[in-house]
Amino acid sequence: MQVFETVLSLQNYFKTEFNGKSIAFIPTMGALHQGHLSLIKRAKNENDIVVVSIFVNPTQFNNANDLKNYPRNLDKDLKLLERNNCDLVFTPSVSEIYPDENSKKSTYNFGKIVEVMEGKFRPGHFDGVANVVSRLFKIIKPDNAYFGQKDFQQYILIKTLADKYLSDLNIQVHRCPIIREEDGLAMSSRNVLLSPEQRKSAALISQTLFWAKDNYQKYTVDELKKQITNKINADKYLKIEYIEFVSDPELNEITNWGLEQKIVACIAVQVGDVRLIDNIYLS
Ligand code: PAF
Repeated sequence: MQVFETVLSLQNYFKTEFNGKSIAFIPTMGALHQGHLSLIKRAKNENDIVVVSIFVNPTQFNNANDLKNYPRNLDKDLKLLERNNCDLVFTPSVSEIYPDENSKKSTYNFGKIVEVMEGKFRPGHFDGVANVVSRLFKIIKPDNAYFGQKDFQQYILIKTLADKYLSDLNIQVHRCPIIREEDGLAMSSRNVLLSPEQRKSAALISQTLFWAKDNYQKYTVDELKKQITNKINADKYLKIEYIEFVSDPELNEITNWGLEQKIVACIAVQVGDVRLIDNIYLS
């Protein structure tokens, strides 16, 4: 496994080593877990070369404390990647990705995608995500890129980015299932920040979504939102930020169960200082 810190060294290596080979790319912010490893496994099955980037992207954090506390453990991540057959790791510095202030600005217009749910509650977050992924796509020029369904809205954003704004790069963006802990909690790098009590309570997030999947037709949309909110907020460690039902892939708000084929329930919950998201297909 090769590790590169600069764009130049990475691209020079690409020129000599990877001519004609299919390249898979998995962008990450490190603190890798089984969810990331499942993306690597699929990428490895479908491509010759797997490239993983580890870059805690400052421009997508709308909360300075969240950026400061984001878990970082490069040595552990590199060992895990080596063991899981990753071919190449890109670990750039901030100045390598953003050489000047202008490069930090995003110029895309995603309309509704960035206005609802995560876009509404984390202003500027998706501009930062779109900008960094676009910069990484242009550096690595992969054939395929893999993202987890846990960040459902992020996946829709990046698919739109690749298809609408970076179509000349011809990158196929794939989505992979959510990987869950035994008690149902969606795997996330932020889970390690939870105290043992908070970690126990956090399982209620997915358990409430599973309950909603089994029972949604018994309620109106508003009633179900209330039920979910009450179940989550009844736990002293949890505070719901939003629960929304939207169509996949349009992210249209659902007001009536009958109308849409694919309805996704999306939730964000504050667990102490840690903010977690999850989602589930109701239909
Ligand atoms: O999902 C993440 O870890 C990040 O948002 C991503 C896609 C690596 C961009 O920084």
